[in-house]
Amino acid sequence: MARTRAGYVEKGISIMKLVIIGGTGLIGSKLVARLREHGHEAVPASPDTGVNTLTAEGLADVLQGASVVVDVSNSPSFEESAVMDFFTRSTRNLLEHAAAAGVKHYVALSVVGTERIPDSPYLRAKNAQETLIKSGRIPYSIVHATQFFEFVNRIADEATVGTTVRLPPVLIQPMAADDVAKAVGRIAVGAPVNGTVEVAGPQQFRFDELIRQGFAARHDPREVVVDPHARYFGAEFGERSLIPAGEARLGEIRFEQWLGQPVLQQR
Ligand SMILES: NC(=O)c1ccc[n+]([C@@H]2O[C@H](COP(=O)([O-])OP(=O)(O)OC[C@H]3O[C@@H](n4cnc5c(N)ncnc54)[C@H](OP(=O)(O)O)[C@@H]3O)[C@@H](O)[C@H]2O)c1
Repeated sequence: MARTRAGYVEKGISIMKLVIIGGTGLIGSKLVARLREHGHEAVPASPDTGVNTLTAEGLADVLQGASVVVDVSNSPSFEESAVMDFFTRSTRNLLEHAAAAGVKHYVALSVVGTERIPDSPYLRAKNAQETLIKSGRIPYSIVHATQFFEFVNRIADEATVGTTVRLPPVLIQPMAADDVAKAVGRIAVGAPVNGTVEVAGPQQFRFDELIRQGFAARHDPREVVVDPHARYFGAEFGERSLIPAGEARLGEIRFEQWLGQPVLQQR
């Protein structure tokens, strides 16, 4: 039976207000649901709910009384200058308003390898976001996640020319969005680490093998070709650039298990 908020208070579990920037997105909506299941006041914030981090519209209001901000927003465009502008402008606005509201913990979701792949415009922008957070005044936790299973199709589409998908033979350790939300939720309600926590999936693949496995499950006829110089979102990668550098916290959901779910639940 679901516990009521009063029930949590009775049990001595502390209830927090957490504002989830991008709380209507893939990770954000799962995170909001999980935090609420645990009795917290999780407030989704995005243009859909009247909060825009680029213009700061709605930020002061939504952050009132919040102890934690979790930024799981994403740039609508991955174009080089647009994505850099998105992550730097929105992070500056968020840091300023979060500090003014007395927020005690600033959490942001980023990507494993941001510091290792300067060729990638997207990862450069994520790295700039992280630098701003690290040089800010609010205690923080940065979560580095690997690629989401839900993103694998987009990766394949990005690498497709005609009916051929060209991919470099590098390692990848993707994870389910549910496992990402679980990891971010745990970190958000804990003490700030003032550093980076890496999270990843339970299995490592070679990039081309992962995409082939996804295509086989969906009867996608595209041909997958290994090309050591194939670029992934504009960058060339080393064999281990996309996998955690240190000891990562691992998710539980395996790729074949996720592929076996009805398509509508794969989101
Ligand atoms: N994809 C991957 O494999 C991967 C791997 C590791 C880390 N990540 C990181 O995970 C994060 C979340 O990704 P996701 O796939 O969950 O994103 P998503 O589904 O695309 O959701 C993006 C969210 O950002 C919100 N947003 C967009 N513009 C905004 C603005 N100006 N102000 C406030 N909110 C805004 C959107 O709101 P509306 O719906 O209202 O527009 C939406 O709620 C990203 O930061 C990404 O870098 C991704």
